[in-house]
Amino acid sequence: MEFLEDDIKIDIAGNLKDSEVKKINLNQQQANLLQRLVNDAVNSGGPQANGTKSRVAAIATSLKVTFNPDQVKLLNNYSDGRVSALIFDGLCEISNEPLPDRLPALASIEKSMDTLRMGIRSQVLMKLVDHKAFAYDIDNESKIIRVVANYKGGGDAPLEQEPEIAELSSHSGLALGPHTEAPYWCTVKAAKGHSPAPCSLTLSAMWNPLNEPTSIIPIPTILDGLGVEACLALTSPWFQFTRSDSFVQGLGEDGRNVSVLEYDDNYGFALKFNAYRFSVMQEAPEHVAKAFEAFCDAVANSAPVQHVLTQKSVLIINNVRALHCRDVVKDNGRALIRLFGYSKYAEPIIFSEDPLLVRG
Ligand SMILES: [Fe+2]
Repeated sequence: MEFLEDDIKIDIAGNLKDSEVKKINLNQQQANLLQRLVNDAVNSGGPQANGTKSRVAAIATSLKVTFNPDQVKLLNNYSDGRVSALIFDGLCEISNEPLPDRLPALASIEKSMDTLRMGIRSQVLMKLVDHKAFAYDIDNESKIIRVVANYKGGGDAPLEQEPEIAELSSHSGLALGPHTEAPYWCTVKAAKGHSPAPCSLTLSAMWNPLNEPTSIIPIPTILDGLGVEACLALTSPWFQFTRSDSFVQGLGEDGRNVSVLEYDDNYGFALKFNAYRFSVMQEAPEHVAKAFEAFCDAVANSAPVQHVLTQKSVLIINNVRALHCRDVVKDNGRALIRLFGYSKYAEPIIFSEDPLLVRG
């Protein structure tokens, strides 16, 4: 396997001088090994099956022995939370099936063997960076795999039954401004009865007919530009957020008195933010409001790193160090597979270990 940092500079538009987005290209033997082991594992069940945890760990161990020291160093850097995103490229295609004329029903994608393969594969790659896949009780009906596709309207092309108001979530086709993943109560460690936000999310594409990109905005350079006073202001508890539309009906809630930035012993800093859900509380001091405005401006004016997802790559985004966003969905056949992961530092409130289910 080779790590081709230069590849990123060619493949991905955007500012990479801070090297916040890394890429690992699997060679053919490694890609084949991963594919074979994932295919074997999925016969015993997908990410939701009891026992998957140990099967995933065994595959990750088999794959990791083929990595050279440089690549192991890259894995360790991500594991330690020191980079914004890691792309695994050169993977085998999951399916030889032709692209369907139209997006299959959600339930049919969710239970397809290809989706389960993609889910297990993402779990293995997460395990390589010491993350474990999990689900929240309040989100996605407690399922580990989330299909991200336009089922709720708002895309460039209307659905057959286009709703009047499209839901602002990953199940719609709406553009989604820069955000970290909810919930927004805390990062890394549980607080006030809530588990932390995901430490990472993995994305891969089952279908992406128009090669629509996913955008990543690393935060370190933005914070450097803001300066120390504004960064400290962002750690104050003067921010509020609105409930995520993707939460299960009746669960999840708006929140007040949260910060945008947190100091964390392991990550150094940890971020939670959503351009369309976060605002400053009315009672906030003026310099906090100004710091938030400066932060929002810097995010809006940043040059995102873009990656086009296919079946042959998996993108892992560090959810405490980078924002992500997308434009309006142009082709309703686009379907991504998303998993959340907790790092070795996370301290959630756990309901069950295998599969890992936590309180949101
Ligand atoms: Fe997202």
